Amino acid sequence: MLDVIDLNIEFHDHLTPETVVYDFDLHLEEGEIVGIVGESGSGKSMSALAIAGLLSRKQMKKRGQIIFDGVDLLTCSRNILRKYQGKDISMVFQEPMTSLNPVKKIGWQVGESLRIHTELKEEEIHDRVIKMMEDVELQNPEELYDKYPHELSGGMRQRVMIAAALITEPKILIADEPTTALDVTVQAQILKLLKRINEQRGTAILFISHDLSVVRKLCKRVLVMYKGRIVESGPVNEVFNAPTQEYTRKLIKAIPRMEKLSI
Ligand SMILES: Nc1ncnc2c1ncn2[C@@H]1O[C@H](COP(=O)(O)OP(=O)(O)O)[C@@H](O)[C@H]1O
Ligand SMILES: [Mg+2]
Repeated sequence: MLDVIDLNIEFHDHLTPETVVYDFDLHLEEGEIVGIVGESGSGKSMSALAIAGLLSRKQMKKRGQIIFDGVDLLTCSRNILRKYQGKDISMVFQEPMTSLNPVKKIGWQVGESLRIHTELKEEEIHDRVIKMMEDVELQNPEELYDKYPHELSGGMRQRVMIAAALITEPKILIADEPTTALDVTVQAQILKLLKRINEQRGTAILFISHDLSVVRKLCKRVLVMYKGRIVESGPVNEVFNAPTQEYTRKLIKAIPRMEKLSI
């Protein structure tokens, strides 16, 4: 469904261009969950943003191909890209407080993509938003509809983000460290929610984390990134049990012992 081939990303906002992602390859099947793991600064977010079509075309030079639905998202026209962006490919971020608009009500924000991508009437959008909020297990959706982001807990805000990303029934959800800012209990609830969404809706998920133990809970396949390159990839259990790279071994060692046992 999605094929990323030899993606290179270069920044051009300094005097000398700086490459931050080298020869990134990814194949994502319908309904699959693939993880990207790597320490901070290894190029995970840049790769994800490129796939989501959210990197500015001017400042960030990209080479390679991002083929979705037979279309190369790197070279297609802006109009065509807009058709996919935020509709078939949606993204949730680490910090819902910075990606949610502080002065817009929750219900309006969850329904925003429907206003952009469909001709639906407000009543229909309202009904779909309420259903979507129920589906991500937000309690009392009618009441929540009129609240503002600051009135919600971190876990609820992340559920709102996920609802907003899923409202257009995307084929791919890119989740960039969606649980990193949350405490362990809430983190586990969000992981469970993502797993259920994947199973029930068949949404493919590209799940990004610096934490291999989290990736292991959710993903069957993983890419390990280091300094802008994929240094290792394969089924999570293989990578976990028989890492071929020293860097991957370090990531595994960094996981507390109890975490390794609890799966
Ligand atoms: N505006 C920018 N200009 C130049 N380099 C940047 C810019 N933003 C991020 N980077 C660099 O890109 C690299 C990859 O960053 P990122 O994809 O955010 O890493 P990760 O998500 O794995 O933590 C980092 O080395 C970072 O310093
Ligand atoms: Mg990141």
